[in-house]
Amino acid sequence: MIRRVAILISGAGSNMEALVRSMVRDHPARPVVVVSNTPDAAGLARADALGVPAACVDHRPFGADRAGFEAALDAALAPHRPDLIALAGFMRVLTPCFVDRHAGRILNIHPSLLPKYPGLHTHQRALDAGDTQAGCTVHEVTAALDAGPILGQGRVPVLPGDTVQTLAARVRDMEHRLYPAVLRRRCADMRRPLMLP
Ligand code: GAR
Repeated sequence: MIRRVAILISGAGSNMEALVRSMVRDHPARPVVVVSNTPDAAGLARADALGVPAACVDHRPFGADRAGFEAALDAALAPHRPDLIALAGFMRVLTPCFVDRHAGRILNIHPSLLPKYPGLHTHQRALDAGDTQAGCTVHEVTAALDAGPILGQGRVPVLPGDTVQTLAARVRDMEHRLYPAVLRRRCADMRRPLMLP
């Protein structure tokens, strides 16, 4: 059975592109839609160029009405009948209601070696702590922020002289390897976490 994958973004969409480019030939999944919560996300044009339907559900008119935003998000997703929802730089926290509606079917990539550094500013926090290793994690999304079951992690060294920018770029390269690999395993129902390199 071919899995239908929706990808949610908020920004550049480089992870979205890595996922889309991976879902070809004998891959057991196909991208069905890319949805951004912000109209100026560069990833929208990127999805378009990749031939994937792209839509925006702007969160701003909803203000504090998270349920309203998520109802609109569901309405944008539903016609595409996704089996999996891959968060790829999607910077909105999803409510427990949304997560419950899609329980076990939402994946996220986070730029740290969870459980270290959930939330924001992960690279700065790794540098401040003097860590010698950093990386990224793909996990299943649960109601608790950045705390769902870990499906894979990729490690990179922190090098002398690293800045947030240089470290972020190294982690991003690893993200582009890790996320497609974990997605493929998830489609094959392989639950054992993948550890890279
Ligand atoms: C990625 O580094 C991703 O790990 C991070 O946002 C970036 C998106 O880049 N996600 C989070 O911080 C989620 N909490 P991209 O738009 O180029 O894929």
